Amino acid sequence: MSLFDLAGKNAFVTGASRGIGRSIAVALAGAGADVALVARSERGLAETAADITALGRTALVIPADVTSQPAVDAAVAAAIGQLGHVDVVVNNAGGSNFMVAFLDLRLSGWEKIMRLNLDSAVYVCHAIGGHLLERAEGSVINVASVTGMTGSPLLAPYGAAKAGLISLTKSLAVEWGTTGVRVNALCPGWTATELNRSLWDDPVSGPATVATVPMRRWARAEEMAGPAVFLASAASSYMTGQVLVVDGGQTVWP
Ligand SMILES: NC(=O)c1ccc[n+]([C@@H]2O[C@H](COP(=O)([O-])OP(=O)(O)OC[C@H]3O[C@@H](n4cnc5c(N)ncnc54)[C@H](OP(=O)(O)O)[C@@H]3O)[C@@H](O)[C@H]2O)c1
Repeated sequence: MSLFDLAGKNAFVTGASRGIGRSIAVALAGAGADVALVARSERGLAETAADITALGRTALVIPADVTSQPAVDAAVAAAIGQLGHVDVVVNNAGGSNFMVAFLDLRLSGWEKIMRLNLDSAVYVCHAIGGHLLERAEGSVINVASVTGMTGSPLLAPYGAAKAGLISLTKSLAVEWGTTGVRVNALCPGWTATELNRSLWDDPVSGPATVATVPMRRWARAEEMAGPAVFLASAASSYMTGQVLVVDGGQTVWP
C-alpha cells in the first residue's frame, strides 16, 4: 500500500462535482490526500466534499468555471493559500454536449469545446506550474480520452481538443523532465456518467456503443480512480509523458 500512499499530499481536481472527477477526488482522499475541489456546481462539490470528510480528510470547495482564466488563477491561488501547497493536479473538467457533422459545425461550438477540454488545462498548468517546479515535486494528470487517439467522426472538436491535451502532456513532461514534476494523461474509454447518459441509459444504444469494446460493457466512473491514484503516487515515479488508456480494450481491437 505504501507505494500508493498520498498521506501529506494535497490535490487539486477540476470537474470534481460528479462523475469521473468525483471518483478520482474521493480515491485520492482515500489514499491520504487532502483535496481542493473545483467545478461550477456548489451542490455537487458539497456532495463530493462530504464523501471526503467522511474519510477523515480535508476537502476545500472552490466553485469556479475552468473556461475562465481569471477564475482558474483565483482557484489555484485559493488552493495553495488554504492547503499550503499542491502536489497532485487532475485536469478532469471536460466533455462535449453535442455531436455534429464537421460541415455543420459552428465556429462558436469549436471554440467552446476547445476552451473546456484544452484551454482549461493550459490555464491550470500555467497557474500552478511555477508552484510545482519551485517545490520540485508533483504529478499532473490530464484526463483526455480515447477519442483523442483516433479519428472522431461527429466529435471533431472534442477529439482535437483531447489530442491537443495529450500533446500538451508530452510537451510538459519533456520540458519538466528533470524537475521532479511528472505529467501524464489518463484516457478513459466509454464510461457511464451524466455526460453520456442518453447513450448508456438506452436499452439499444447502450449495448451497441460498447459492441466494439472487448469487455463488452461500460466502465464505471470508479474504475478511473485506481489508475489516477497510481499516476498521482510514487507507484508511477518513473512515468512521465505517458498515456494511460483505461478502455476495456477498445483501442486494441482492430
Ligand atoms: N464519460 C466518458 O465516457 C468519458 C470518456 C473519455 C473521457 N472522458 C473525460 O472525462 C472527464 C470527466 O467526464 P465525466 O464523464 O465525468 O463527465 P461529467 O459527469 O459530465 O462531469 C464533468 C465534470 O466537469 C465539470 N465541468 C464541466 N464544465 C465545467 C466548467 N466550465 N468549469 C468547471 N467545471 C466544469 C462538471 O461540473 P459542473 O457542471 O458542476 O461545472 C463535472 O464535474 C472529461 O474530461 C471527459 O471528457 C469521459
